Amino acid sequence: MTQQLDIQLSFTINRELVCVEDFSPALTLLEYLRLSGRAGTKEGCGDGDCGACTVAIIGKRADGQPHYQAVNSCLIPLGAIAGRQVLTADGITQCQIPKVAFVKEPVTADQLHPVQSAMVETGGSQCGYCTPGFVMSLFAAYYDGTPNDLSVEGNLCRCTGYIPIRRAAQMVADATIQDQFSEQLVAASTTLVPLAYTGHDEQFYRPTQLSEVLELLQQHPDATLVAGATDLGLEMSWHRQQYPILISLEAVEELQQIHQTEDFVEIGAAVPLSHIEANLHGLFPSMDEMIHWFAARQVRNRATLGGNIGTASPIGDLPPVLLSLDATLKLAGPGGERTLPLANFFTGYRQTALQPGEVIVSVQISKATAPGTARRLSQSYKIGKRGTDDISIVAAAFVVDVDGSNQILHARLGYGGVAATPARAIAAESFLIGKPWTAATMQAMKPILQEAFTPLTDLRGSAEYRQRLVVNLFEKFFVEFS
Ligand SMILES: Cc1cc2nc3c(=O)[nH]c(=O)nc-3n(C[C@H](O)[C@H](O)[C@H](O)COP(=O)(O)OP(=O)(O)OC[C@H]3O[C@@H](n4cnc5c(N)ncnc54)[C@H](O)[C@@H]3O)c2cc1C
Ligand code: FES
Ligand code: FES
Repeated sequence: MTQQLDIQLSFTINRELVCVEDFSPALTLLEYLRLSGRAGTKEGCGDGDCGACTVAIIGKRADGQPHYQAVNSCLIPLGAIAGRQVLTADGITQCQIPKVAFVKEPVTADQLHPVQSAMVETGGSQCGYCTPGFVMSLFAAYYDGTPNDLSVEGNLCRCTGYIPIRRAAQMVADATIQDQFSEQLVAASTTLVPLAYTGHDEQFYRPTQLSEVLELLQQHPDATLVAGATDLGLEMSWHRQQYPILISLEAVEELQQIHQTEDFVEIGAAVPLSHIEANLHGLFPSMDEMIHWFAARQVRNRATLGGNIGTASPIGDLPPVLLSLDATLKLAGPGGERTLPLANFFTGYRQTALQPGEVIVSVQISKATAPGTARRLSQSYKIGKRGTDDISIVAAAFVVDVDGSNQILHARLGYGGVAATPARAIAAESFLIGKPWTAATMQAMKPILQEAFTPLTDLRGSAEYRQRLVVNLFEKFFVEFS
């Protein structure tokens, strides 16, 4: 790829072409919107939790077609917006789009977008601070045909209450849509162009080939990889962390594929969770369940599997699931490609077996069960302080294969939040092999599970609580599948 750094970064906001010069590519889209006078998009938490900053970008749907995606603008670095089309709550009225964003004629009621009108009619707004975010989540769902509770699960309202907002979603649920925004989608391209931009002495690369990523990592050993930026974005926005060189994986073709055979599935490291959710639904029930409870729609539209593993967080939700499924990682680096069981990837608190210059390319999961299996029992559980949009106190995922006479042939128990890394309860797994899947086995195993980990106490939960969850979640699994 060319190493010539562009001095301009361009995209559209509400169909107005915007070229920015000498802006940090790590500035968040929300900061840019507000700095440039587009203050209709609000900042609530600044860390992806409240949805006030939600905008829609045109992106690829799981089936490859262009669609409007609700995303948290407080988490997206400006570099990731290059070449994209962004719509905000003040750009979706049916009136003429103003040439200068902050010089506007007042919008009349008949010019409101149907989702805006629905919010007005149902009284879905009081202080109005959350409203642009709700409107944009509903807007994206409107064109996907899915305005419902789940489409606004990532939006918090602290004063109106949710019933009027739910009514607004219901009002627009069955609309027949043919308007300027549906037409914009027909003409839209979802191909991300390569980028090599510098602004404010910070560099942002967006290569399209894996070989280019590896080459860039050789040239810039201190560079940081960024995929959906739902973890790094938080560092940028909330912790003001500086990233002098970012290499985006979003446009890398090899990292964007889901490949399936009769025997296994290979998921590209940069595939967003919402694509995994849609394209692999029903294949691994424990993965479906965990993704369902993973953050909220805006985050799942951006977050990737590679990013969830790459953070090496002890409370990442998908590593326990992948550990229970015996997943293997494909890594690529200067020495070529290698595979590594996920169980050997996490080497310590926030430490991994990734060598300098290496990238996670994909995650491979076998569909096979142990020879002689009559039934595979598999589920995952997440305990957090609230249902959606929260990180785990403890997450767990279990796989148990039993034969026709109910003997356990294979067991994998993956946990998060109970050790410095996501980890398996190996002694408990060994204990289960050859035992019958019965309440007596469950009881006999409890002391082993009780001793499996020595969790820490933190703000989210005490060590004792976590230790109890290790046992209780497996017991819950047993009760559900016995
Ligand atoms: C509001 C909110 C809610 C959240 N809820 C949850 C939750 O419920 N469960 C949960 O587990 N997490 C949650 N997270 C954390 C985050 O969304 C996930 O960890 C997500 O999977 C990160 O993926 P990403 O693509 O956004 O990673 P990024 O932020 O782009 O990157 C994260 C890290 O991984 C590295 N990385 C990314 N891709 C690769 C690769 N291919 N190879 C090597 N390294 C790589 C990056 O360098 C970086 O260090 C939440 C975050 C927010 C802001
Ligand atoms: S400001 Fe709360 S999610 Fe962005
Ligand atoms: S209307 Fe005030 S927070 Fe929702």
